[in-house]
This record gives sequence, C-alpha cells and structure tokens, in this order.
Amino acid sequence: MPDTPLSTSAPSAPAAPPADSALSVRDLQVGYGSYVLMRHVSFEVRKGDIFFIMGGSGCGKSTLLHVLMGLKRPQAGKEFFGKVDFWDGTEAQRRQAMRHAGVLFQSGALWSSMTLAENVGLPLQQYTDLDDDEIRELASLKLALVGLAGFEDFYPSEISGGMSKRAGLARALALDPQILFLDEPSAGLDPVSSNLLDELIQELRDTLGATFVIVSHELASIFSIATNGIFLDVKTRTVTAKGNPRELAENPHTQKDALLFLTRGGKNPLGPQACSPASAPAAGATAAGAPGAASPETRAKDENA
Ligand SMILES: Nc1ncnc2c1ncn2[C@@H]1O[C@H](COP(=O)(O)OP(=O)(O)OP(=O)(O)O)[C@@H](O)[C@H]1O
Ligand SMILES: [Mg+2]
Repeated sequence: MPDTPLSTSAPSAPAAPPADSALSVRDLQVGYGSYVLMRHVSFEVRKGDIFFIMGGSGCGKSTLLHVLMGLKRPQAGKEFFGKVDFWDGTEAQRRQAMRHAGVLFQSGALWSSMTLAENVGLPLQQYTDLDDDEIRELASLKLALVGLAGFEDFYPSEISGGMSKRAGLARALALDPQILFLDEPSAGLDPVSSNLLDELIQELRDTLGATFVIVSHELASIFSIATNGIFLDVKTRTVTAKGNPRELAENPHTQKDALLFLTRGGKNPLGPQACSPASAPAAGATAAGAPGAASPETRAKDENA
C-alpha cells in the first residue's frame, strides 16, 4: 500500500455546530499509523437525518464510521456530538456520549451462543441497573419493534439473514439511542428484505426521532431513504460530493466519480427518479407492511423461503 504523508495543514478554529446538529465533523483525517485514508472530511448530520456515507469498496467508509462512533481516534480534525467536542474529552466522556448511540457493525456480530433476547439484553446488562426480568421485558419490546416478537428464545443460527440484521438493529436500539450508526445494514439481503429494512429505518426515524448514519452502496436504499450524504472518493482521498443523493444523481455538475457511483457507471436502470422521494412515507411503511405483523412461525417461513 503506498504511503501518503500526513496532512500538515492546520484546521482553522471551528465554528460552533448548528442548533439542530446531531453530529458535526470538521476537517477530519482518518487512517492507520502514518497512512492516510481520507482527509479534510467535513459534514453536518442534522437531527432526524438519514445520512449516508457512500464510496467505493476499500475507500475507508467503515474506518470513518469507527472514528465517528469513538472506536478509533482520528489523525486530525474535530467531531462534535451535539455541542460536545468528542475527541477533546476524556475516555469516560466519550463513553458517556456513546451511551446515546446505537451501533450495527458490518459483520452483524450477534453472539451465536446467546438467544436473541440475551443478545439484545446485553447492552442493558452492561450499562443499566435493571434486573433480569426488566431486561428480558425490554429486550422483547425492542425485538417487537423490529418485527421479531416471539423470537426471544431463538438462536442466531435459527433465523434468516434478514432477521439477523433486524435483531442486530434491535440490539442497537436497546439503550434508546438518539443516533444510530449502521454499517452496510442491507448487504446480503434480498431486495424485499432490504426494502423492509429501509422502511423500518424510516419508521424508527419518524416514531423515535432517531438520527441515522449509514454506510452503504445499495443504491436502491440510498435513493429510497437518504435525506443527506457524502461521497468518499478513493482517488483524491476526500469528500468529493455532498448532499441529498437523489439531487446529486440528477445534477450534471456532481463530481464525475460520485456521479458514476450514483448512476452505476451511467447505467443505473433504477435512476433516482424511479424511487419514491425520501421525504414521502415509503409505501407499506404502515402497521400492515411493517415487520411484526406476522407471527414468528409465518415470518420465519416467509424469510427463509
Ligand atoms: N486495522 C487496520 N489496519 C490497517 N489497515 C486497515 C485496517 N482496517 C482496514 N484497513 C485498510 O483501510 C482501507 C479501508 O478499509 P475500510 O474497511 O474502512 O473500507 P470500506 O470503505 O469500509 O470498504 P468496504 O466497502 O469493502 O466495506 C482498506 O485498504 C483496508 O485494508
Ligand atoms: Mg466497510
């Protein structure tokens, strides 16, 4: 891997984040050791946004997400959670800030030896003083929220890929987060399950007022639910496009590689115009269409079909 010298440009003093900011990133630089993956990354995530981090494979999306969620220190730059300067504080302060964040890793990572209820209950066990019965009850509630009512005692090996993703989301929701970081939530899902997951994300945003930061290259999801986003360019190692992906895809002035990405190399059979506007409620995002309407038996059968 070619080495790139660390940036020497000193960022100017950042202005305070806007009042409705959920996450504010200023001139961030991320990488490993002295190797720089991305530099001068700046963006605002507003409360209630479904914000997509886009870019080709290997450009550094997961790495950036790890920095945003406090698992990895940036090489330079600022990150604000609301008004809190995240990396300027102590480890304890970062933990406290992350108490209001939920995380779904790219690998999903449910514990195979634990039931779904135990998996979802794990953060509650770690971060609250609730007793076992209360944890079980809350875990059931979270599972119901993602359409997995009745699956409390199933093991990860007994459910489908789509259900695993939703169980992971239930675990991310365990501590009632204000902001959720999801890494490739719909990777490996069939289009119908992927669409259901999109609707669920939109519903959670609408009902819980949560903010989502999502890494994905699923164009159908991006055009369907994104309210805002950035494109990370592997060649120039920085953000080359920002904004609502639908608008970016329709704007001929969007940077070339971002446009190629958003139009699948200029051959996107869907096109942003083929998808419902992100602001409109997704079709079927109602109680009837929402996961959870089916019994565990029916749903397991449907999803494994
Ligand atoms: N722990 C690590 N140490 C050193 N380099 C790493 C480490 N993790 C990832 N990388 C490198 O950083 C680069 C970006 O990886 P990252 O996983 O952030 O990309 P990505 O955009 O999420 O890719 P994908 O779309 O395939 O998930 C890759 O070249 C990868 O090899
Ligand atoms: Mg990744």
